Amino acid sequence: MTSQKRKYELYTHDFKADPYDTFAAMRRDDPVLQQPGMDGQTMLWFATRYADVERILRDDKVFARDLRRHIHSFDPPDSQIDQMLNNHMLNKDGDDHRRLRNLVSKAFTPARVRALRPRIQAIADELIDSVAGQNQMDLMADYAFHLPTIVILEMLGIPIADRDRFKKWSNTIIMPFTAEDDLEQFISEMQAFLMYLHALFAARRADPGDDLTSALIHAEEDGDRLSEQELFSMMMLLIVAGHETTVSLIGNAMVALWRNPDQLALLQANPELMPTAVEEFLRYDGSVERAFNRFVLEDVELGGQIVPQGAMIIPILASASRDEAVFENPEALDVTRTPNPHMGFGKGVHYCVGAPLARIEAEIALNTLLHRLPNIRPASALTTLRYRLTPGFRSLEALPVIW
Ligand code: HEM
Repeated sequence: MTSQKRKYELYTHDFKADPYDTFAAMRRDDPVLQQPGMDGQTMLWFATRYADVERILRDDKVFARDLRRHIHSFDPPDSQIDQMLNNHMLNKDGDDHRRLRNLVSKAFTPARVRALRPRIQAIADELIDSVAGQNQMDLMADYAFHLPTIVILEMLGIPIADRDRFKKWSNTIIMPFTAEDDLEQFISEMQAFLMYLHALFAARRADPGDDLTSALIHAEEDGDRLSEQELFSMMMLLIVAGHETTVSLIGNAMVALWRNPDQLALLQANPELMPTAVEEFLRYDGSVERAFNRFVLEDVELGGQIVPQGAMIIPILASASRDEAVFENPEALDVTRTPNPHMGFGKGVHYCVGAPLARIEAEIALNTLLHRLPNIRPASALTTLRYRLTPGFRSLEALPVIW
């Protein structure tokens, strides 16, 4: 057993600006370690090597997600809201997880998603049309945000005019709740979100459409397939996943290309490389930095440490995707890299159900941007960019660009 002495800073702007040196040091010296989480108090374990991350994500008998079933003292800020938001597939194990995932997985198969291609292309073109007359924008707010958001809201049959409200709600949901936060404000925002969904469900019940919300309501009406809490939570998960992931990947990919002009030139000359390039963006600087906490159900040896029953462990996907034991020259961006078994979409039973959609969205968003605004470039030095302090995600606050 190794005795651990070091502590790594994992929650500051400096860390977020370039976390990869820290991850390399963790993989080398403390591949599995325990230290306080963002609140400075709760002790968490972190795993950074590919093999350990993969083992955790694949072994859901030992590393469970359903914390509520296992921690009886679990005490969320508002338990009623918690029930309505957190009864989703990513928080479930075993049969409950399978049942919930099966209800939506058909909507995200590669074939179903391919049929959305023309619509996604039209959205990308409209977004570029709306800024083409200017010579600057915030790539995050004016382009990257809209494309995946419009797609998921349309799939769910939610009016896209309401997208800014969803942006705010989604932000509130992913920011960890800390002692300094205003509990009343949080509760009132989440109540507004739930009221909105209530009204949406009533409208779809009265007049079902060809959308995913109507299909989920139908499953809820069948009773034993989806409870009311599960219905609300499923909608929340899909809305948040649609808002926080592909959006950030588009920004991270452009920054990666500007830092590697040879790769940018290669991709511009060969747009057919984009599907391989998207896999590399997911590996090199994907938008989900860490998988969600796993709850350890029995003492387990991992990376030379005994991780005890009851511990919470966080698999760091962004570190696994740079593991020198798996990837040749892992610190280099190579848009032709194959094979590329990156961890950007996770592994095991919770492997991203939206992966086929995310791939097509990223491919179209980036190809359209590079084709329609070929000399697009950052408006200021890349070193001035700031990332949001959300522990699980790698997401730029803003990305001012000119062309
Ligand atoms: C670049 C974009 C995306 C990335 C990097 C990403 C990444 C991930 C990752 C890493 C997980 C597993 C988390 C864990 O095991 O703790 C996951 C799960 C999930 N993702 Fe994505 N995602 C993306 C886009 C999407 C989209 C567009 C949707 C759908 C609208 C989606 C829906 C989901 C759902 C529902 C799960 C839970 C699956 C389960 O528990 O079985 N994701 N995603």
